[in-house]
Amino acid sequence: MSGTTSRSTPTTASESAEGPRRFEGRRIKAAIVGAGAIGRGSHLPALAELAAAGEVEIVAGVDIDSAAVEKLCADGGIPHAYTDLDRMLREQRPDLVTIGTPPTLHLTQSVAALRSGAWVWCEKPPVLSLADFDAVEAEEGTDGGPYASIVFQHRFGSGTRHVKRLLAEGALGRPLVAHCQTTWYRDAAYYAVPWRGRWATEGGGPAMGHGIHQMDLLLDLLGPWSEVRAMTARLVHDVETEDVSTALVRFENGALATIVNSVLSPDEVSRIRVDCELATVELTHLYGHSNDNWRITPVPTAPEADVAVWRDFGPDVPSSHLEQLRELIASMRAGERPRSSGADGRTSLELISALYKAAFTDTTVRAGDIGPGDPYYTVLHGGAPGWAPAATEEATA
Ligand SMILES: NC(=O)c1ccc[n+]([C@@H]2O[C@H](COP(=O)([O-])OP(=O)(O)OC[C@H]3O[C@@H](n4cnc5c(N)ncnc54)[C@H](O)[C@@H]3O)[C@@H](O)[C@H]2O)c1
Repeated sequence: MSGTTSRSTPTTASESAEGPRRFEGRRIKAAIVGAGAIGRGSHLPALAELAAAGEVEIVAGVDIDSAAVEKLCADGGIPHAYTDLDRMLREQRPDLVTIGTPPTLHLTQSVAALRSGAWVWCEKPPVLSLADFDAVEAEEGTDGGPYASIVFQHRFGSGTRHVKRLLAEGALGRPLVAHCQTTWYRDAAYYAVPWRGRWATEGGGPAMGHGIHQMDLLLDLLGPWSEVRAMTARLVHDVETEDVSTALVRFENGALATIVNSVLSPDEVSRIRVDCELATVELTHLYGHSNDNWRITPVPTAPEADVAVWRDFGPDVPSSHLEQLRELIASMRAGERPRSSGADGRTSLELISALYKAAFTDTTVRAGDIGPGDPYYTVLHGGAPGWAPAATEEATA
């Protein structure tokens, strides 16, 4: 093992004063932080595939659980296992750091990686608040990287690419009304784990932890939202956060959407439906999608030739971590800001923050309303009575 559990001097912003790194003619050096379910199950396989293609070299794994990181490295043929992120950054100087640790760590680990000069690919939820998101963004390079991007793998793959293009080109007419549904089921044992269902450790309930993927995809398809109204409830689980939320969203393009996020729905589904003037587009799946999960239903008068084009999704490329990572690597080589970073990576967190504020204050919240000084900018419960943890309520009373 290359690392120790002792604390080491943090890397500083000055270390990235060398300017953005260039990757022409060489493999991108990647490190995996977090050897848990998503690190092992998604980050390692995606990086390994790109390593086999000669694009990347996985130089290190990091986890505070030494047995877990040793196993990750042994299984993945990764030469260096660390239990200390700062030490790994200093000794290995990776170009890319993938983060698959619990949400409370995303802020400090993203900042540490950026300060060392590495690009970041961090799991959802990005961080626990818009303030934290802006703090990460402030550490990015200004010209050519390094940039921090968020894992939103449902945006990638042939289905999303095809439908996004149809919508952007106006092929289906104007989008009019949409539904966005993440109705999942989690039992009491799931919430018996102490960090689940709490604001401080998860940032929010199913709106933040589960529904974020479909809301992010809805925003990716329909573009900027302009206002939201919402309701939340705790109906089943013994949690601090909500276990169900509903929202009404108006988009800048005029479309209206309903959103439902739950962890109490026995018949689980992830679903997006967009009714446009000329056709309804529908995506029905659970944790990922391929072309077969999409359905396009035209108006009766639509020309057959047009419908054939709309329904031609091309070769099937399922949504996956690998597809997003491929695009990220291409952005790194081009020295360009990747999709799902900056304003594009912030959009679903802003909608979720607004959803909570709208629900807890019984008001309509407009895009851009939540900034520094707003209680919902720094914590998603906003100190709301009945929702914030008791100690926070007393402190803000
Ligand atoms: N994109 C998706 O579809 C998807 C799916 C599942 C989970 N996730 C996200 O991935 C993240 C991790 O979830 P998970 O299910 O893999 O959790 P997990 O508990 O299985 O793994 C987390 C790992 O992080 C390690 N860790 C804890 N503190 C650390 C530290 N200071 N430094 C390094 N490692 C540390 C733990 O030891 C553990 O091995 C969460 O943000 C979760 O929301 C995303």
